[in-house]
Amino acid sequence: MEFIVKSQSPEKQKTDCLVLPLFQSARLSGAVEKLNQASKGTFGTLHKRGDLAGNVTQVVLLQSIEGLSAQRVLLLGVGKDGKISSVQYRELLQKMIATLCDTNAQDIVIDLNDIQVKDKDLNWKIRQVIAAFHFAFYRFDEYKSKKDPKLSTLRKVTFNVLTKKDVTLAQNAIEQGVAIVKGIELTKNLANVPANICTPTFLAEKAKKLAKAHNKISTAVLEEKDMRALKMGLLLSVTQGSDSSAKLITMEYRGARKDVKPIVLVGKGITFDTGGNSIKVPPNMIGMKYDMCGAATVFGVLEAASLLELPLNIIGVIPSCENMPGPSATRPEDIVTSMSGLTVEILNTDAEGRLILADALTYCERFAPDVVIDIATLTSACQLALGPFASGLMSNYQPLADALIQAGNQSSDRAWQLPLWEEYAEPLKSEFADLSNIPLNPIGGATIVAGAFLAKFTQKFHWAHLDVANTATTNSPKRGATGRPVALLVQYLINRCNAI
Ligand code: BES
Ligand code: MN
Ligand code: ZN
Repeated sequence: MEFIVKSQSPEKQKTDCLVLPLFQSARLSGAVEKLNQASKGTFGTLHKRGDLAGNVTQVVLLQSIEGLSAQRVLLLGVGKDGKISSVQYRELLQKMIATLCDTNAQDIVIDLNDIQVKDKDLNWKIRQVIAAFHFAFYRFDEYKSKKDPKLSTLRKVTFNVLTKKDVTLAQNAIEQGVAIVKGIELTKNLANVPANICTPTFLAEKAKKLAKAHNKISTAVLEEKDMRALKMGLLLSVTQGSDSSAKLITMEYRGARKDVKPIVLVGKGITFDTGGNSIKVPPNMIGMKYDMCGAATVFGVLEAASLLELPLNIIGVIPSCENMPGPSATRPEDIVTSMSGLTVEILNTDAEGRLILADALTYCERFAPDVVIDIATLTSACQLALGPFASGLMSNYQPLADALIQAGNQSSDRAWQLPLWEEYAEPLKSEFADLSNIPLNPIGGATIVAGAFLAKFTQKFHWAHLDVANTATTNSPKRGATGRPVALLVQYLINRCNAI
């Protein structure tokens, strides 16, 4: 779909459908009043009938009104003063798209200027429209013999803005919105592939493809023999029950001078999590093909960063393997030595994410990073704690946590910080090793305890951890990956560029 910007009075727009806000008032106002004059009173008649009440999130489609250049007019109810919440705005967009899908419109003009969303600007309003179209139209039907039918004939969306300055702002928002949506699409497409196809080798191939498609991205893949040389005992202990070979994928986007310290993104890439010998019960295994959503996020962010040509250096690190049970799989109570030298007693092989991440995080030291951010579907407890709305955030450096929270609010892909007090690491003390991977006696707060485990391996740099077990996938309205937290992270990167 194509998005463009124009600055023209609404009643003169030649389009298949003109989309305008509708106010709740005794008299017609704004652009609708101008349309009313052009149509010799049609809107006034409808208003008198009570059909143009303008209640918040009312949506009215009008066809073939005489005197207008637009074939259709779609009115979005915004209440008395046009001030609505971000949730209401998104609901309006959803309804707008559903209504457009029932028409044969191919190009539309949207005029959002009189809608004021609390704490949000034009950039946000435009990016939300682009995200809403992606969300509504996204399909994953690669493995269906009969493809899903196309929902809509829509091809072109024009944003109508008021001033020259807004034209520039809107163009910038479109550029960002489209890049983010492309990143989100890549993330979802990778995450939705089932684990019999999406193996660590598959991810490594996709990483090489990404490097081919973007000239500032390069990729390197480490094999198990390299991991042995690096003494990555934790990562190797997770993969040892699987027939698929583990990969440590590094993707490097170079958008700044060589001496600029990189932002490193580490994504959990468990292509399937059975739990290993601490095997999951069958209902809990559904959804575990998504245990590589952190890795998929790293792909999406790098793609968006490259499309936006961000003047930053970004390194993606993806430890990837399968967590399988079996005769050669790790047993509970096995003790393994990590790359950092710390020994770990594995009390539960289902707490595997923190193990592969620990070695990957130690590996990050070699990049002399500015910051390291890991993204992982790490704990089911994160679903209990936060529901589906905010990713779990933990950090050893408050300015980084603050920047991520802010980026989450700006992009409406929010994160909520949890405390990483040292008490949370206490139950990870082991009788026989330097630490255990889960508490022998659980204290609750499993999301934070997992974060506290990772913190043992991140003492040499500024680090944040995003637990996305609750946000990376959804079951409603459709089952699948959400592409979160790509928007949050790309916003963080954009903000970093603006701060240079
Ligand atoms: N991949 C899971 C976490 C998960 C669960 C993500 C549900 C998305 C949905 C992780 O490897 C895991 O199994 N975590 C365990 C840890 C426990 C053994 C301490 C969990 O959260 O139950
Ligand atoms: Mn697990
Ligand atoms: Zn897992």
